[in-house]
Amino acid sequence: MRLRSFLCVLFVRDCFSFHQTKLRGLKQNTGNDRPVIGILTQIVSDEAMKQYGSTYIPASYVKYIESAGSRVMPIKLTLTTTEYENIFSRINGLLLIGGASNLETSDFARVSRIFYQLALKANGAGDHFPVWGTCLGMQLLTVLVSGHNLLTKATAENVALPLNLTEAAFSSRMFEGFPDELMKDLQREPLTGHFHHYGLTVKAFKQNKELMDFFSVISTNVGDNGVHFVSTIEGKRFPLYGVQWHPEVNPFQWDSTLNFPHSPHAVQLSSLLAQFFVNEGRRSLHKFDDPKEEALTLIYNYTPVFAGNFSGYEQIYFF
Ligand SMILES: *[C@@H]1O[C@H](CO)[C@@H](O)[C@H](O)[C@H]1NC(C)=O
Ligand SMILES: *[C@@H]1O[C@H](CO)[C@@H](O)[C@H](O)[C@H]1NC(C)=O
Repeated sequence: MRLRSFLCVLFVRDCFSFHQTKLRGLKQNTGNDRPVIGILTQIVSDEAMKQYGSTYIPASYVKYIESAGSRVMPIKLTLTTTEYENIFSRINGLLLIGGASNLETSDFARVSRIFYQLALKANGAGDHFPVWGTCLGMQLLTVLVSGHNLLTKATAENVALPLNLTEAAFSSRMFEGFPDELMKDLQREPLTGHFHHYGLTVKAFKQNKELMDFFSVISTNVGDNGVHFVSTIEGKRFPLYGVQWHPEVNPFQWDSTLNFPHSPHAVQLSSLLAQFFVNEGRRSLHKFDDPKEEALTLIYNYTPVFAGNFSGYEQIYFF
């Protein structure tokens, strides 16, 4: 009798959650509340960092992902294609971070291409897998999608800027659910930190059919040299996202010689984007079969180094 009523409750609850899912559509994430986002390690190019390792991830990116309710798996650049395929089937999204690697010939570019192709195939088959590129990571996405390096000098070096939002921003997924006030302030307050020499001009973007077909331009900015560059992009059909600026610095980087936006709106913007991306990851049902294997791959196995006295970062993970 007891068992029966227990089963009944279970059954009712099942029906209820199914009903809710239907009512709320895709925005209600019922899939995966234990996401793991992969962060591809970056190649060390800075001389002062070389004694610590050959690849790295600034801790700010890790905290950014963790703050929105995901765990992080660092992904090394030395594995085989089969190993990357195995990782892909276990993680729920990929973050391509900033840095200074070659966009065509580096290991960072090579491994990104493997994941990009896996992500296209998976998403095309209805297996939701989000990919986010920040700064160099976004530039790399434009190279992968267009098949060409279309970047030119579009310097915005150590400057915080408002975004020049396009019409598409107001129907975008990335900024969906942003409070009206934040949408206004995003356009008039310097909430986005830029640290780049190269960029994709609005003109180059519009002249490339592959990019135009694949991405919507969500925002643009004007660089130090007066060039209009694309600063935020969102995949039209696929969950691929790119920002030429650095959302992770707002709450997590503090070098006072660098123009990191720390205002309440700047931190709110960063939090909402981190939540957006991790929510995208929650829609992925990839998982580790073996909890022991999962535990060994996560970032918790590594200790960040204090880097405030030799870099613009406070803490860096080296690999
Ligand atoms: C915003 O973008 C539009 C269209 O690309 C451009 O005409 C305008 O000059 C830009 N304004 C700023 C402040 O960047
Ligand atoms: C930075 O600080 C750490 C910890 O205090 C110290 O071990 C290291 O030698 C310092 N590095 C430099 C380049 O000053």
